[in-house]
Amino acid sequence: MRIPFIAGNWKMYKDMAQARGFALKFKTLYHGTDVKTAIFAPYPQLALLVEEFKGTGIGVGAQNVHFEKEGAFTGEVSIPMLEELGVDYCLVGHSERRQYFGETDETVNLKLKALLQSSILPLVCVGENLSEREAGKEKDIVSGQIKAAFSGIAGEDAEKVTVAYEPVWAIGTGKTATAQQAQDMCECIRQTLAAMYDEETADKIIIQYGGSVKPDNASEIMDMPEIDGALVGGASLDPLKFIEIVNF
Ligand code: PGA
Repeated sequence: MRIPFIAGNWKMYKDMAQARGFALKFKTLYHGTDVKTAIFAPYPQLALLVEEFKGTGIGVGAQNVHFEKEGAFTGEVSIPMLEELGVDYCLVGHSERRQYFGETDETVNLKLKALLQSSILPLVCVGENLSEREAGKEKDIVSGQIKAAFSGIAGEDAEKVTVAYEPVWAIGTGKTATAQQAQDMCECIRQTLAAMYDEETADKIIIQYGGSVKPDNASEIMDMPEIDGALVGGASLDPLKFIEIVNF
């Protein structure tokens, strides 16, 4: 039985006062027993959110991390540093990291492996861009990203990873993939995982859809059998919109 997981990705938005305001409101709204939720916030807001969400069941995630434990990597943050803060999750391979900050399939794999040796659960993002979809290559691209991300990872660890399918052309554009397009790709991801591991392992992995998820399209997306959750950007900035999605 896969428990639905709706996560918010704040990207580079919200100062401290705004983050605190969100947390104070959102924790009065969330009574989650059957849906898991978490906020992926910028580094400076993580400690505040961990503190505010203590005992509420609302998780806190970072948006990126380095795979080395420590070293001369100016500007980077390590997994032990995030563990010390009490962070529950970390995003890996978001398309904006791949597009603007040189994240590759190889660094995604290194980060997943390093996170799986820590107390922090990884959430790995995959997805094709518009030209890849127009060329009919989307399934090859996404299954290739999955194979690379999970390369060398044992089945018992793979089960702990959440996958987010986020077609790049649907992120922040207001263009959602149709529920059927999202379902088809999530099914392809699960088949890829079943081929790498086995059906039982693949069936345990939470697969989210992300890309312009809003209160008015969340339930249609969540109704799809292979979609177990959502990764929500813009609509996660407002606690009232985000709770509507969590309560799809
Ligand atoms: P969006 O972002 O919901 O604003 O499209 C999704 C994401 O990038 O995770």
